[in-house]
Amino acid sequence: MREPGIHEAVMVDQVISNLIVNKKGSYVDCTFGLGGHTSAILKNLDSEAELVGIDRDPESFEAANEVIKKDNRFSFINDKFGNLEDHFPGESLDGILVDLGISSRQLDNPERGFSFQAQGPLDMRMNQSDVDSAETWLNKSSKEEITRVLWEKGEERNSRKIAEIICRERDVSPINTTQRLIKIIVACKPRKSKRHPATNVFRAIRMEINSEMEELQNVLIAAGCLLKNGGRLAVISFHSLEDRIVKRFLQGKSLDGKKFSFRKVGSKHFKPNKEEIIKNPRSRSAILRISEKVA
Ligand SMILES: C[S@@+](CC[C@H](N)C(=O)[O-])C[C@H]1O[C@@H](n2cnc3c(N)ncnc32)[C@H](O)[C@@H]1O
Repeated sequence: MREPGIHEAVMVDQVISNLIVNKKGSYVDCTFGLGGHTSAILKNLDSEAELVGIDRDPESFEAANEVIKKDNRFSFINDKFGNLEDHFPGESLDGILVDLGISSRQLDNPERGFSFQAQGPLDMRMNQSDVDSAETWLNKSSKEEITRVLWEKGEERNSRKIAEIICRERDVSPINTTQRLIKIIVACKPRKSKRHPATNVFRAIRMEINSEMEELQNVLIAAGCLLKNGGRLAVISFHSLEDRIVKRFLQGKSLDGKKFSFRKVGSKHFKPNKEEIIKNPRSRSAILRISEKVA
C-alpha cells in the first residue's frame, strides 16, 4: 500500500536507460517534484555532467536543497517549464525529461485542493503566487466558458449540466471548497463505475487554471530548440489529450507553426509493467515517449 504524501517516480528504469546518451552531458529534469527521477539520473551520470531541476511549485525547494547539499552537479530553478528557453542557450542540452501532472505529495495534501478524495479549499494551483485559484476561476467564469473547459479538457459528457448548476449554486454563495464542488458534480451524475464522478471535472479545472496544455506546447517547442542533435526528449503523460500532442510533435508535425525532426527511441512508447502498477497504482495510465533529435 502506498504511503500518503510519498511520490513514487514512474518508469525510472526505462527513463534512465533511454534518456542518457552522454554520461558527461547536460540534462534538465523539467518536473523535479520530489526528485525521484533526478536522483536516478544523477546516479547514472559522470562527475563532469550537470543536471538542472525545474519545478513551478515552491514546495519543491526543500527536496531540491537536499540534493544540492549532496551533489554539486545539480542546481534548481523555481519556474514554469514553459519558460525553459529563458534559462539555456540553443542546442546545449543532451537530454530533457518532462513528467507531466502533479506529484502524490501535491495530490495528497488537502490544503492544495487537488483531490476529490479530501476536503479542502478549492485551490489547485501548482504555484499559489503565479495564477488565480480554482475558486476564483470557477466563481468568475461564464457558464459557456466552464462548459467549454469541462468538455475540452475533461472530456466530461455532463459539462453543460454541471456548469449550469455551478452557476446557480454560486449565486447562493461562492463555491470555495472541494466538498461543495463534489456535491454539485455528484448531484448531476450519479456514480456508475469505480471511477469517481468528479475525476474529469477536477482534472479539467486543474489543467485550465495552470495552463497545462499551453505549458506542454511551450516545453516541447523549447526542447526542439535546446536539444543538441542526438539529444533526447522523454515525456511521461497521463492521459490521451497530452499524449496526442506529444506524439504528433515527436512525429515531426508542426506545433504552433514550429516543427523539428525526431527519431523514435524504442519500437513504440513505453508503459509501466504489471509489477510497477501493483506497487504504484497511480502509474497505470502513464505513457512514456522518448525520441532523439535529428538534424
Ligand atoms: C508528476 S510530478 C513529477 C515527479 C518527479 N518526477 C519525481 O520523481 O518526484 C510533476 C511535477 O511537475 C511540476 N510541474 C507541473 N507542471 C509544471 C510546469 N508547467 N512547470 C514546472 N513544473 C511543473 C509539478 O509541480 C510537480 O511537482
